[in-house]
Amino acid sequence: MTPTDINLVKNSFRQIVPIADQAAALFYARLFELDPSLRPLFRGDMREQGRKLMTMIATAVAALERIDTIVPVIRQLGARHVAYGVREEHYGTVGVALLWTLEKGLGPEFTPAVREAWTSTYTLLANTMIDAAKTAQPSAA
Ligand code: HEM
Repeated sequence: MTPTDINLVKNSFRQIVPIADQAAALFYARLFELDPSLRPLFRGDMREQGRKLMTMIATAVAALERIDTIVPVIRQLGARHVAYGVREEHYGTVGVALLWTLEKGLGPEFTPAVREAWTSTYTLLANTMIDAAKTAQPSAA
């Protein structure tokens, strides 16, 4: 990712932070509309789940300049997702729901450049998780 991409992601995410709960609710509603079969994978409180997701995205966004420092955390997250029943093909649907949510939250500020920058960010996280999932031991996940 270029420094410009990183700035676009950081600045746009700053606008999502104050509306994080609503953004998370929108995200899951959209996700389950896109693929209702994903709903049963989520067993806990969805408000709590939304906060965990937003916190993890915030951590990743904050570390974009030094992505190597959070790769181990993202890999562990990917390995845990195997145990949640998440498969590689689900990452595409989650990416679509995430970009849709950002578009709703940012309105006209979700420019093509901002979309590209978020696409790169999500792809980076998803690929890291998928790669870790492939090598994860089922018993350790
Ligand atoms: C960049 C991509 C993703 C991020 C940052 C992310 C983040 C998280 C976080 C922080 C948790 C809390 C539990 C933990 O830390 O282990 C979680 C749980 C979960 N995630 Fe993800 N996730 C991503 C992709 C996905 C995808 C593609 C799916 C597929 C549907 C998914 C489904 C789930 C499920 C089912 C749980 C467990 C919910 C429960 O315990 O009820 N996640 N995710």
